[in-house]
Amino acid sequence: MTRVLTVAVIGLGIGKTHITEGYSKHPEKFRVLAICDLDPKRLAAVGDEFVVPRRATSFDEVLAMADIDVVDICTPPALHVPQTLAAIAAGKHAICEKPLAGSLADVDKLIAVQRCAKRRIMPVFQYRFGNGLQKAKRIVDLGLAGKPYLATIETAWKRTAAYYAVPWRGKWETELGGVLVTHAIHSHDIMTYLMGPIASVFGRRATRVNPIEVEDCAVASLLMKSGALVSLAATLGSQVEISRLRFCFEHVTFESSLGPYHPGDDPWTIAPASPEAEARIAKVLEDWRFVPSRFEGLLAAYHTAIVDGGPLPVTLADARQSLELITALMHSAETGTAVALPIGARHPKYRSWRPRKRTARRPKPRKAQRTAGRR
Ligand SMILES: NC(=O)c1ccc[n+]([C@@H]2O[C@H](COP(=O)([O-])OP(=O)(O)OC[C@H]3O[C@@H](n4cnc5c(N)ncnc54)[C@H](O)[C@@H]3O)[C@@H](O)[C@H]2O)c1
Repeated sequence: MTRVLTVAVIGLGIGKTHITEGYSKHPEKFRVLAICDLDPKRLAAVGDEFVVPRRATSFDEVLAMADIDVVDICTPPALHVPQTLAAIAAGKHAICEKPLAGSLADVDKLIAVQRCAKRRIMPVFQYRFGNGLQKAKRIVDLGLAGKPYLATIETAWKRTAAYYAVPWRGKWETELGGVLVTHAIHSHDIMTYLMGPIASVFGRRATRVNPIEVEDCAVASLLMKSGALVSLAATLGSQVEISRLRFCFEHVTFESSLGPYHPGDDPWTIAPASPEAEARIAKVLEDWRFVPSRFEGLLAAYHTAIVDGGPLPVTLADARQSLELITALMHSAETGTAVALPIGARHPKYRSWRPRKRTARRPKPRKAQRTAGRR
């Protein structure tokens, strides 16, 4: 018999999508027993729509519910680390929306806590789930793609003033970053999912689309540990929204579908380099079984991992890798230099990737004043 995990969803913006696209597709695996939001209107609307028995405005009230297995954190970014730590301390499994944290120091704290905890933390990267990307992943993991040459990753989305009317968005303090931290993080995660670890990052960031504090355009040039090269381009000022991911390997080139919010879905172009490569790829895809997209796929894999004790579909190491790229890119943009990875505790941006505040330069003392003090 499948074990049904009981869930509390905290924050009902994207949290509602976790229910519609995810939990409600797997009634034999999950039961949403509680929802929590500071906004009573959202609480009532989502609670009534999905017939959720318990509705709370207090996070602590949810943590005190002994029969909840999983706390799914979908609140604004600055709350992710304290709420994840509190959920684990209360003996719950935690699922946490991106960005998992606002610094590598905080991710490392979560990794340390996870090591000694009885429960597990899963960061959210639902864009990994879709047939096109999962087929490419199988081909790469089985070693059929060969040497990675180059990837180009475009995240061209659109956000207007209406999006920034929500008070936590657009500010360093509460959003923790812009297009790199909130939007392109998904495509960039897919990039490392297929291409492996990053060795070095040179990046630029700019705020050009909306009058906000954080970046809404960014580019980067990456050297991967394998020697492959990658270019990243992300903007929130594209009138036509696309996510386009192109991966050139020795034996095959992959190109994603263009759906901005479903880049993992078919149709992906899988172009083999030779008839031999084509035959090898066809053979490993012969028994392909449909992989549900986004939250439906992610949460099915999550359930298996929790119930059987296998690896989580997204790990803290994956989240660290995504935040290390952000840290490196922010530092590179600030210093105009390439940044080598890995980034450890001694790096100036380990505790926060936020740009340093420019302090007004004090005027140099005039020569007569400088010498006066020495007499
Ligand atoms: N994975 C994705 O594709 C995806 C998409 C959108 C948003 N997100 C992420 O999800 C998070 C939330 O984004 P959103 O767009 O849903 O924001 P939102 O503002 O629409 O929703 C957040 C909700 O959290 C509630 N909330 C705030 N503090 C709370 C608290 N202490 N306890 C309980 N509820 C609280 C708010 O009332 C609000 O209803 C962000 O980190 C964002 O980056 C992820």
